[in-house]
Amino acid sequence: MHQRTQVGIVGCGPAGLFLAHLLHRAGIEAIILENRTREAVEGTIRAGVLEHWVTELMREMGLGDRMAREGHFHSGITLQYGRSRFHLDMEELTGGKRVTVYAQHEVLRDLIAARLADGGIIHFDISDAAFHDIETTQPRITFRHADGREDALICDYVVGADGFHGPGRQAIPAADRREYSKTYPFGWLGILAHAPTSWHELIYARHEEGFALLSTRSTEIQRMYIQCDPQDDIANWPDERIWATLHRRLETIGDWRLSEGAIFQKGIIPLRSFVCETMRHGRLFIAGDAAHIVPPTGAKGLNLAVADVLVLSRALEAAIRRNDTDGLDAYPATALRRVWKAERFSWMMTTMLHRDDAETPFEHRIRMADLDYLAGSRNAQAALAENYVGLPFEG
Ligand code: PHB
Repeated sequence: MHQRTQVGIVGCGPAGLFLAHLLHRAGIEAIILENRTREAVEGTIRAGVLEHWVTELMREMGLGDRMAREGHFHSGITLQYGRSRFHLDMEELTGGKRVTVYAQHEVLRDLIAARLADGGIIHFDISDAAFHDIETTQPRITFRHADGREDALICDYVVGADGFHGPGRQAIPAADRREYSKTYPFGWLGILAHAPTSWHELIYARHEEGFALLSTRSTEIQRMYIQCDPQDDIANWPDERIWATLHRRLETIGDWRLSEGAIFQKGIIPLRSFVCETMRHGRLFIAGDAAHIVPPTGAKGLNLAVADVLVLSRALEAAIRRNDTDGLDAYPATALRRVWKAERFSWMMTTMLHRDDAETPFEHRIRMADLDYLAGSRNAQAALAENYVGLPFEG
């Protein structure tokens, strides 16, 4: 058995879904394969900050209705260190740009529903996805349906939008892959709690004990993170210890108090930076986390995935409609210019805000000077804000 489609996509995350929508808008057919169930995809908790242009793109594509109702538009962020807080007015610093706090899985829910309503095909709960013949003009993806049936997609082009561990990047011969990575000695313990809003915007805090982040999901649900050992076991973090840590790291200012509530989700993620510059091999293209990982400190992961596939969708359209493959040839170089800037920003935010025991006293003072400079310089704040709301799109 097999099916034909113009573009075969593995991965129903932000990269795969935005790509399928953008291609559909250009009149190109795509089929998405996903090894998780729809419920699992729609329930996976990730970060939730959308850059200004991503929000605009969703609106323009007719995918922004629920986000407009339920998302939270933030015109600034608060940075905290050394027992002081300062507000970065991003809207003012960037000439009117904001970010939207709207959880990644909500974006995915909206995009999946719209894709299926448009008659798009997404095969969930598949297994053994494998890319074949990617150096030919008829690449294939073989896979197995949930009921055990074997199937194949015969395509013009194939895309690995299948995350860091997916088969996409692995299908590029290892000898051809140019990869760069950095692991940090920190993890983030993230929680979701039924609690009222504590502050009108996100707080990124550097405390001598470690980083803490106060974020939100709604007026009733709050998202918070604390720096921890990446190898730590979540069993070592009963709720009381999490709250005590959050209180210590965030309540260093005046009489401000953090609101508590019932924690209903918690987990630890490691922080790493990774780039595979080889984003193309023959007719296989990789996008999003398959090609690059950023630590969550700059909230760039989803945004970068969307940027990749915006470039890729235009290039696929030119190749399929007009037989013009220049855009496909340029895809890695074009995408990587934005990727490396986001890697730089995420690394900078991470090193500036985390406690690192391996840091020398000299480096420690440089980090504190980074924060002090930021607190006092409009130019430094404008540079941070420009990156945070999303750099201008050059694709
Ligand atoms: C989140 O709300 O999950 C979030 C916000 C900002 C970040 C990372 C995660 O930098």
